[in-house]
This record gives sequence, C-alpha cells and structure tokens, in this order.
Amino acid sequence: MNEVTLADLPLRDDLVGKSPYGAPQLDVPVRINTNENPYPPSDALVADLTASVASAAVDLNRYPDRDAVALRESLARYLSRSAGVSLTTSNVWAANGSNEILLQLLQAFGGPGRAALGFEPSYSMHPIIASGTRTTWLSCPRRADFTVDIDAAVDAVARRRPDVLFVTSPNNPTGGSLPPEDVARLAEVTPGIVVVDEAYAEFSQRPSAIRLIADFPAKLVVVRTMSKAFAFAGGRLGYLAAAPAVIDALLLVRLPYHLSTLTQAAALAALRHADDTLASVAHLVAERIRVAASLTDIGLRVIESDANFLLFGEFADAKATWQAYLDAGVLLRDMGIPGYLRATIGTDAENDVLIKVSATIKESG
Ligand SMILES: Cc1ncc(COP(=O)(O)O)c(C=O)c1O
Repeated sequence: MNEVTLADLPLRDDLVGKSPYGAPQLDVPVRINTNENPYPPSDALVADLTASVASAAVDLNRYPDRDAVALRESLARYLSRSAGVSLTTSNVWAANGSNEILLQLLQAFGGPGRAALGFEPSYSMHPIIASGTRTTWLSCPRRADFTVDIDAAVDAVARRRPDVLFVTSPNNPTGGSLPPEDVARLAEVTPGIVVVDEAYAEFSQRPSAIRLIADFPAKLVVVRTMSKAFAFAGGRLGYLAAAPAVIDALLLVRLPYHLSTLTQAAALAALRHADDTLASVAHLVAERIRVAASLTDIGLRVIESDANFLLFGEFADAKATWQAYLDAGVLLRDMGIPGYLRATIGTDAENDVLIKVSATIKESG
C-alpha cells in the first residue's frame, strides 16, 4: 500500500506535473518568510480566547452557526470603523483564511470556460486556486519595477475580458499598492467580478477599495484577512466586503458549517482586542522604513513597499543567496523572481539580524 505514488493515481490530467503551494516551514532562529505579524497575542487576548473557546466547547455536539452571524457583525463593525464606510452583516462574509474566500469566489464566478486575470508577479495562490477550479489563468505582466502600468492594464482587461480580475493591493510579493482611482478604472472595463485582495491593507496609507463597493455593487469584492496585521494566522480567518448579492452567490458553493464553532469563538475574541493588536502596525511600518533604508545603504535595491515585507535584490543567483541566508539562520522567501528575495518585517532584533546578515552576504558576493 505504501508503494503507491502520485503517478499511480487517476489524477485529473490538468493537475499532473503541478507543484503544491509550499513556503518552507523550517525551525530556524529568524523565520521571516510568510508575512506574519511577529508579535504573539497579548496575555489578555489569550485569556479571553481561552475562556471563549471553553464556553463554546460545551456546545460542540451541535453544528456551528452556519452563517457566522455574530462574527460577521463584529467584522462589519471593524471594517466600517477602519474604512469609514457603513457596512452591515449582510455585506460581510467569513471563511477559513482568505484563501478559502478566494476559493469560494472562483467556485462561484470562475470555473470551466471562464477566465481570471492577474498582474504578475503577484500572490501565487491566485493562479493555483484558478487551476483547482479549472478557471483559465490570464497573466498580465507588471513593469520591470513591479508597478502596474494602469493604462496598459485597463487596455489588457478591456481586450481579454476576464470573468474574475485580481487586483492585489498592497501586492504580494512586491509591496506596492494601487490607489482606489486606478481600481475604479479597472472595474469600469471588467465584465466580471473584481477581487481586490487587501490582505495587507492595515499596513498601507492608501484608502481601501471598500469605498468603491457602492459604485460597483455588482462587481467589486474586497478580500481581507486576520492572518497579517491581526496576528491571527494560526486562527485561520479571512473575510470579504461586498454587496449582499455576492454573499448570496457564495452561499451556493460554500460547504455547510465551514467555519467551526471554535474558529468563530476565537476570532470574536481576537476582534475584541483589535485595537491592542493593531497597535503593533505602526511600529512594524516604522521598522519597514528602517530596514529598507539600511538595506539600501548596504547597496541593495529595495522595492518600495506599503506592506509588512520587502522585496529586495539584486542577487546574481537568488536561490544560492536564499541558501546563504538560511545557513546564517534567516529564512526568507524565494518567489522565483530572478535576482530577488522577500523578507517579512519581524521583531526589532530579527530585523537587526536581517540587516547584519545582508551586509555580510553583500560583502562576500
Ligand atoms: C495577497 C494575499 N492574499 C491572501 C493571502 C492568504 O492569507 P490567509 O489565507 O492566511 O488569509 C495571503 C497570504 O500570504 C496573501 O499574501
């Protein structure tokens, strides 16, 4: 039984030869490869969450609230407050990480015979989820400096007419963001759904695209996550803001009871401590500016970032340089962009190590 390999299975033809998503999970001193918030939850949050989960546990013989109403209410309050737009429970949907939200969006609006377009390099899961849902992937390149040429982008969208358009702002792995005016120009020419992936919105000074939902109610969806600024990556909670009809569409494809009672209770507790947790954001942004300046001083090219990470280079051999950082105890991300690596902003001490190791590698390279 153990000798069966993937090649022996009746796998779908279009999955043969594909690689799974796989940011390495290695136990090294400085793990800055998956854009998490480096600060653990506060003692008060841990105590609140533990008590909430304990009281939810007595009901675990019952299925969870299928529509996660209390959680969506709390998320709507947070979004209304932070984006300055009035949203209610009917505008918000939640799932196990924003990856599940993206999957549900492609299940509902993509699929066989349909196409999704993204401006690459961008978040690697967009084409992977497209492939898993048999949505054709259309790649539109960014400029050499990784910004989006908005006129060319509008033109490409008008010509290629995607059913789903991905706009990642701030963009992972490059860090830059798009102003809402540019998102609106793209929405005007997109025949299908515009998914604005704002996983890193809290780190950016740009206004959120949430304000555009009222102008494009049948098109615009803003996807958020608690994995980054909210320091809740292990809790797996993603969400979206959109017109209520978009959520009606997702109800057609979501698995019943997808969000466990424990996840809902834990996320509600995390949201009660939002102000406290999000206080780390300003410090991480200040650290991003400090690290970017230090890496630039060393002679590296740092791409301007609005998020909690930096893409930097240029290295003759990014793969070999990634290994050199790892040998020095620093786990970075190699996104397959020739000459570049990505580092998440960590604690001050982790950032100091990154700068020090970068100086050594640059000197020896
Ligand atoms: C742009 C972007 N969107 C979505 C996600 C998915 O995050 P999660 O599923 O943890 O919410 C990530 C994670 O790295 C991301 O970078």
